[in-house]
Amino acid sequence: MDVLVLVLILLGAANMVSNIVFYVIFSFRMKDVISGGVRRDNVMVITGLILIVFFLIGYLYIAIYTDASIIMALVLFFGSIFVTLAIMLLNRLVKTSKQRSLEVSQILISVIDSRAPSLHGHSLHVKNLMTVFYKHLPRSIKGDYNLISLEYAALFHDIGKLEMPIEILNKEGNLTEEEEAIMRTHPQVGVRLLRPIRSFDLIADWILYHHERVDGQGYYYKSADSIPVPSKIIAIIDAYSAITMGRVYSAPKTYEEAVEIIKSNAGIKYDEELVDIFLSIPKEEILACAPKLE
Ligand SMILES: [Fe+2]
Repeated sequence: MDVLVLVLILLGAANMVSNIVFYVIFSFRMKDVISGGVRRDNVMVITGLILIVFFLIGYLYIAIYTDASIIMALVLFFGSIFVTLAIMLLNRLVKTSKQRSLEVSQILISVIDSRAPSLHGHSLHVKNLMTVFYKHLPRSIKGDYNLISLEYAALFHDIGKLEMPIEILNKEGNLTEEEEAIMRTHPQVGVRLLRPIRSFDLIADWILYHHERVDGQGYYYKSADSIPVPSKIIAIIDAYSAITMGRVYSAPKTYEEAVEIIKSNAGIKYDEELVDIFLSIPKEEILACAPKLE
């Protein structure tokens, strides 16, 4: 076999193997709240993998058992490049559509938040804080969660407030026991509102338990160990957002004041390790998360 033919065939085969690795990584990354988790999607992903492996086997068969000419070697080599480009394009399309879907969700959520002046921009603020928090998570925690799913959980954590009476949301001063009981249902209502989107099952518990406390005195009295990590993160950034943006019953406080309040509640309301991570994030990065409101 000609040296050039052999080189082209070997390069193409190596490229096909790297295509398979790239495709498998891409498929794992797809398993987030927007794509993945649905059987039909999984079938499509597995079918794609079978096709690529089948292509590699056909490639090797032609290369080994036929007397490949330079034309055949070029066709095989550029065929493998074509597969690489197709996977890259697919990857890009998925990323872009996820970004667009997040932007649409942000608009929807900001409309919901604008029902109560004190909530205006709050969900977007919490989502921005989640993006930054994720960057600073240690690998041991980061590996277990997907950024897109965490961002959606942060953005939708208070969607249940859509069904809370406007007079309770905008009430100045303390809530009565009855009003408090109604407000405590908002995580549950949120999960119910999101139920039609099946892939959101992945983040339902994160939203449901975002008002849990590590001392077990949260809405559902869950113990620290049984509270999902994303819910513990939301609890911290939700508090930071509420403190610094202010609520109808309290004026906005500074970054330093918010940090002091969060620090004093570490091990009581908030997970100590996660509070430490939050405190390690540079102040400028946290301040840049504040949404620009019109
Ligand atoms: Fe909430």
